[in-house]
Amino acid sequence: MAATICAEFGCETAGDSPRSLHEPVMVREVLAAVARREGGVFVDATVNGGGHASQLLPELPADNVYVGLDLDAAALERARRRLASYGGRVTLLPASFRTMGEALAEYAGRVTNVLFDLGLSSDQLADESRGFSFAAAGPLNMRFDGDDSKLTAAEVVNTFDEKRLADLLYEWGEERRSRAIARAITRRRQEAPLRTAAELAEVVGRAVGRRRGRLHPATRTFLALRAFVNDEYAALAEALPAAADLLAAGGRLLVIAYHSFEDRLVKRFFREAAARGALRILTPKPQRPTAEEVRYNPRSRSARLRTAEKL
Ligand SMILES: C[S@@+](CC[C@H](N)C(=O)[O-])C[C@H]1O[C@@H](n2cnc3c(N)ncnc32)[C@H](O)[C@@H]1O
Repeated sequence: MAATICAEFGCETAGDSPRSLHEPVMVREVLAAVARREGGVFVDATVNGGGHASQLLPELPADNVYVGLDLDAAALERARRRLASYGGRVTLLPASFRTMGEALAEYAGRVTNVLFDLGLSSDQLADESRGFSFAAAGPLNMRFDGDDSKLTAAEVVNTFDEKRLADLLYEWGEERRSRAIARAITRRRQEAPLRTAAELAEVVGRAVGRRRGRLHPATRTFLALRAFVNDEYAALAEALPAAADLLAAGGRLLVIAYHSFEDRLVKRFFREAAARGALRILTPKPQRPTAEEVRYNPRSRSARLRTAEKL
């Protein structure tokens, strides 16, 4: 099993128990963009299993503190094990970046970098019990955290009426075939509720037909559901100004986005903050991974890195 997953995603450890399947994206570009300052605090808003962290920590001044946030407890546990050798320099918090203003108030004004690497990791994608991947036979969950008070993707597709479902797919995933997909889902669930991600991917595939280029036909449906279930856009819209507030003058805000909606949100925030004189934009156009990186790690292909400096 591990060998199959490693062949698909690339693993960093040999043998049967990969420590983390996730390959951090655009590491070289991130390293070139971060501010290095004695006594600094690095905030990794989406630390996951510590992919970026393990590459950044050796390159930062030795007295820098590294604070990682994530909603995913299993990912934080992987990061804890992976970064254990850095001892007290690393603090990992099970928190949403949405609340970073309060959660990190003690560091306000001392933060030299805030990094957001949005979306989900290869480990989350490969974990069938999370319901993120088209082939997953586990429950259609899609929550980043284990908060049972929140809706799951299964509850959304099995209870929302057709119009609400179509609007959701259009607004949250920019899915142009939203109406046909919503109709197919509501018809299918009259026979039996949709339980797994694989069932949903099949229904969507049948509703909209063949693959579009490299994209699976259910890509936008899955994106919309994941974004809705985790309220991703509001979380990011609240986190960006909080991150800018936490930064010290000259500190850097780095955001890696993987789809256009998210990237537009970042672009707009950067522009507004620049117009107010709060940030200076360092990437007029987003940076993209090199062809070499995309060959080595195909999942990096849609990444866009934007960087700004606090004034
Ligand atoms: C692409 S992964 C980050 C990978 C990481 N940079 C690395 O190299 O290992 C995105 C991470 O963001 C986390 N995440 C999603 N929404 C979040 C939120 N609101 N607050 C904190 N973490 C979040 C996910 O759980 C996931 O672990």
